[in-house]
Amino acid sequence: MTPSHLSRTLMIVFASAGLAVSGASFAQVDEDAAKLLFKQNECGKCHNPEKNKKGPSLKKISKEYKGKVDAEKKIIEHMTAGKKVKLDDGTEEDHKVVDTKDPKALSNMSKWILSH
Ligand code: HEC
Repeated sequence: MTPSHLSRTLMIVFASAGLAVSGASFAQVDEDAAKLLFKQNECGKCHNPEKNKKGPSLKKISKEYKGKVDAEKKIIEHMTAGKKVKLDDGTEEDHKVVDTKDPKALSNMSKWILSH
């Protein structure tokens, strides 16, 4: 199976389960805490809920990850790994690493991003 076929199949398999799971987990998002962390870390310099800035909008990120089983984990990885990313002007830099190691805060932030 090619990767795209595989992901398509997985998407169908997990679509209904994913809806139920995400519905339940979104209810637990502490929006204020996530927004505060987002602000304190200046994520908003590059990410806006609706509009693409230097980085993709939260809506776009959420859409990209929707239906993926390990979405939350992937996003946490991205926020903590400091990988090289390409900004919309073509320059590259190490992605900002969020200044918390608290698994709860990271999970909450990730869920909040996915709730867009
Ligand atoms: C200097 C600009 C900049 C800042 C500040 C920044 N980001 Fe990003 N971010 C980017 C860019 C550019 C991308 C797109 C990376 C790509 O697609 O290669 C990105 C991608 C992401 C993604 C999607 C990852 C993926 O795999 O698609 C998430 C989630 C994210 N950022 C979260 C955050 C959080 C949380 C913060 C604050 C701790 C933050 N970003 C701060 C520029 C930034």
